[in-house]
Amino acid sequence: MLSIALPKGRLGNSVYNLFEAIGYDCPEINDETRKLVFINEEKDIKYLLVKPSDVAVYVEKGAADIGVIGSDILFEGNSDVYELLDLNLGKCKMCIAAENGWNDDLSLPLRVASKYPNTASRYFDSISRRIEIIKLNGSIELAPLLGMSDVIVDIVETGGTLKGNDLSVVKEIENISARLIANKSSYQFKKEKIDKIVENMNKIVEE
Ligand code: PRP
Repeated sequence: MLSIALPKGRLGNSVYNLFEAIGYDCPEINDETRKLVFINEEKDIKYLLVKPSDVAVYVEKGAADIGVIGSDILFEGNSDVYELLDLNLGKCKMCIAAENGWNDDLSLPLRVASKYPNTASRYFDSISRRIEIIKLNGSIELAPLLGMSDVIVDIVETGGTLKGNDLSVVKEIENISARLIANKSSYQFKKEKIDKIVENMNKIVEE
């Protein structure tokens, strides 16, 4: 049986629709239940609904053979998994944002609040800008409003959260989208089945 880790929430729904479109349906998943495991014996698949930030852990440990994860989370960690396909879903941008009218003072280390400390550090290292990272777990937009940080590094989808808090994008760092990942040994032992999924999804994603 092939186990598939799906991120719970908005992205999970569209990712499930993609699996359904290539024949891996499990209609029960759309029911309003608190269940986290859904099995389709006939198709020989098992879906696991996991917190988006945990998908790579389930896949790396082999609890799931494959999974779908946003590239923001994938690149923030250093999980030992294969990245098989860009699904072109859940698209947004990793950005630096600050209060409207903010000016950088290059003589001081930049105070950066983020859920993505590794991604932020990597970027600022690449431009040789000294920073001080403030790791937060959510509501990042508050940090510059309270004077706790100069900027934030966060994902921007519609821009609504920035706008609602009088912040604006200073720089776009990278494009984000959902990626299909696989456990390394599962990919060896279940290669045929996994490759078929990649091939079929690729056709839809390319359309
Ligand atoms: C994310 C992100 C931004 C917001 C961006 O937060 O951290 O706050 O979405 O989306 P927008 O550009 O469409 O407004 P999330 O909803 O995950 O909540 P969090 O602040 O609790 O992390």
